[in-house]
Amino acid sequence: MAVPTMTKTFHLLTDDDLTPAQATALIDFAAQLKADHYAGKPQHHYLAGKTLAMIFQKPSTRTRVAFEAGMAQLGGHALYLSTNDLQLGRGETIADTARVLSRYVNAIMARVYKHQDIVELAAYATVPVINGLSDLAHPTQGLADMLTVKEHLGGWAGRTLAYLGCANNMAHSLVLSGALVGLNVRIACPPHCQPDPAIIARAQAIARQTGATIAVLSDPWQAVQGVDIVYTDVWVSMGQSLSQEALDALQAYQVNEEIMTAAGPGAIFMHCLPMYRGQEATAEVADGPRSVIFDQAENRLHLHKALLVELLSDAGPGILK
Ligand code: CP
Ligand code: NVA
Repeated sequence: MAVPTMTKTFHLLTDDDLTPAQATALIDFAAQLKADHYAGKPQHHYLAGKTLAMIFQKPSTRTRVAFEAGMAQLGGHALYLSTNDLQLGRGETIADTARVLSRYVNAIMARVYKHQDIVELAAYATVPVINGLSDLAHPTQGLADMLTVKEHLGGWAGRTLAYLGCANNMAHSLVLSGALVGLNVRIACPPHCQPDPAIIARAQAIARQTGATIAVLSDPWQAVQGVDIVYTDVWVSMGQSLSQEALDALQAYQVNEEIMTAAGPGAIFMHCLPMYRGQEATAEVADGPRSVIFDQAENRLHLHKALLVELLSDAGPGILK
């Protein structure tokens, strides 16, 4: 019997695998699913009988639980597969793993160290592959954060997000997702923590279409002038290490009350979590009235559900067709 071929093999490896129209429609659909969820509307019909494989090379709380709970709420099933439990941990290739899993499941989500690993997974999978964080990008967080921004600020046009700290995978996804929805993004980072110039160029090309601006600065005080959102992330990402000199340089980028005051009275504070209070942000800011960090965490669930419905079902709005 012939192996059925997928008609949809869309992969979300970086945020800009979506067009601006697809990104905004997906976020709107996530908002609709969120409202339906709170209204108690049945959602099991969307993905009944569908399975998501979730490969984790490194730890996770939000990504794992939001995908797993999301699949359950949609009537499907999610499999947690740590690399140590898979034959991948004994040297089976990514290519063979992708081809085998594609015979069992309807989509694969993977959290990997090297972005190239997820590119390879997608190259050999015949089902959709979702990047659940790589060293290059964290697209499901970036897109979910745009839903949080819209909920708190009413929209994206004319609004500005300042990201302070190490220009890592999170910063990359924020410039790409921000550009897609038309949100201005400024990154302020020290010289040893610069973003990938290719990602910035891609974000700027998208921003030219959507009317946003993308800038890379060094001065955190300049970066937060007049912004609507101050965002930060851990200084040392999973699998990375920084010299003491580099960590010392990052101290100037800590988000504290002084930075929030400089940003202005209406600015909100965002962080993808997990966080180290007292390092990249003070507890006063993280747990203060301007912090929306737990709304961000919740919105992962709704964004993941929208993405899964669009990838695996014909019952959604058909954004990825
Ligand atoms: N923000 C985020 O991806 O969190 P986890 O590492 O807990 O999945
Ligand atoms: N930049 C962080 C994000 C964690 C969700 C990391 O990669 O560890």
